[in-house]
Amino acid sequence: MSNGDVSQGRRRFLIGATSVVGGVGVVGAAVPFVASWNPSAKAEAAGAPVTVNVSKIEPGQQITVEWRGKPVWIIRRTEEMQANIEKLNDRVKDPQSEAPQQPPYIDGILRSLKPEFAVLVGLCTHLGCVPSYRPEVAPADLGDEWLGGLFCPCHGSRYDMAGRVYEAQPAPLNLEVPPYRFDDDATLTIGLDPEAA
Ligand code: FES
Repeated sequence: MSNGDVSQGRRRFLIGATSVVGGVGVVGAAVPFVASWNPSAKAEAAGAPVTVNVSKIEPGQQITVEWRGKPVWIIRRTEEMQANIEKLNDRVKDPQSEAPQQPPYIDGILRSLKPEFAVLVGLCTHLGCVPSYRPEVAPADLGDEWLGGLFCPCHGSRYDMAGRVYEAQPAPLNLEVPPYRFDDDATLTIGLDPEAA
């Protein structure tokens, strides 16, 4: 695809950045969530941390928030989704995420502070398009071996539910994990490390 297509993908993100992307049959959860994270436009423009009430996210749902002008996804992974990540260890380029795509306190194949919640910058590491959330297992267009993950429509890169890129894809690296912490079980702040005051 051309650079024009990539720009278009970014524009689509900018238009939709403040909306909630519903996951699997949970559209009704969108409205209360938006009210819970909405930082002031001024704070957001300055790159301030963004606090999210994750208790409103249903299992299997992905939501998008904006942090420092980037889309950041929070995915509440079901137990099945977590188990499928391990099954893909030999099909992804960097299963342990040894490339510096995450803060040092994020380790392991799930690439998260809590197994249930993935927090990922939603920009493809190839040329920066916004991948699509594809949680279905073996959908017709992605094939029998697809166990759910993120699919980039620009040049076809595939990522698993931990943002790990499959082998032999245009994208060179796993999706970035931003700095974040849990303030309590229901409250996640993007842009602050766990030890930050
Ligand atoms: S931008 Fe090229 S595969 Fe995603």
